Amino acid sequence: MLLRDLEPADLDAYVRMRGDPVMMSELGGPQPRERIAGELTRDLETVREDSAWIKMIVPGDCPQVAGTVTLYPHGGISEIGWMVLPEFQGRGLASRAVRTLLDLARADGRWGLIHAFPSTTNAASNAICRSAGFSLVGQEETAFAGRIFQTSHWVFDPSTQSR
Ligand SMILES: CC(C)(COP(=O)(O)OP(=O)(O)OC[C@H]1O[C@@H](n2cnc3c(N)ncnc32)[C@H](O)[C@@H]1OP(=O)(O)O)[C@@H](O)C(=O)NCCC(=O)NCCS
Repeated sequence: MLLRDLEPADLDAYVRMRGDPVMMSELGGPQPRERIAGELTRDLETVREDSAWIKMIVPGDCPQVAGTVTLYPHGGISEIGWMVLPEFQGRGLASRAVRTLLDLARADGRWGLIHAFPSTTNAASNAICRSAGFSLVGQEETAFAGRIFQTSHWVFDPSTQSR
């Protein structure tokens, strides 16, 4: 598995992830293609500026994009998020991608505490946080894509937590 920066050619992968009702069931629902294209343009700009990390997950055995893992400033904190396409799920890719990005963040040193807010019902994402070394702060309501979700709040301290 490797992580690489988002590229303009990743529109199809973005549409497959963000336009899919199952993938987006706990992330505010599927988005229309035009909105996804606008988000890709904005995301490419943040990558160019190096103000956020938007990495595509590429499995070792094929060149196709399997998902994304992102680290970005949001509301005064650093937040991490991830997604893996259905046909690549259950192979440990999300778990490995998150750990790799946390290692990069530790080496980089700029991010401070890293927060994650998976929905309380997202068993795989909560398992990723637990096994990657995040600490559970508690449960809280989080506004996302115009909706309120019951989320688990996890925090990872790159300066002290090793995995
Ligand atoms: C959540 C998601 C990223 C998981 O991707 P994945 O590549 O299948 O995950 P992995 O194979 O790396 O498994 C991750 C962990 O979840 C566990 N797991 C997987 N499915 C599970 C399930 N149904 N119930 C409980 N644990 C589960 C695995 O054992 C693994 O645990 P470990 O880290 O302790 O080894 C993927 O399902 C997805 O993109 N879903 C839709 C979008 C989404 O929910 N994004 C996250 C928002 S916070």
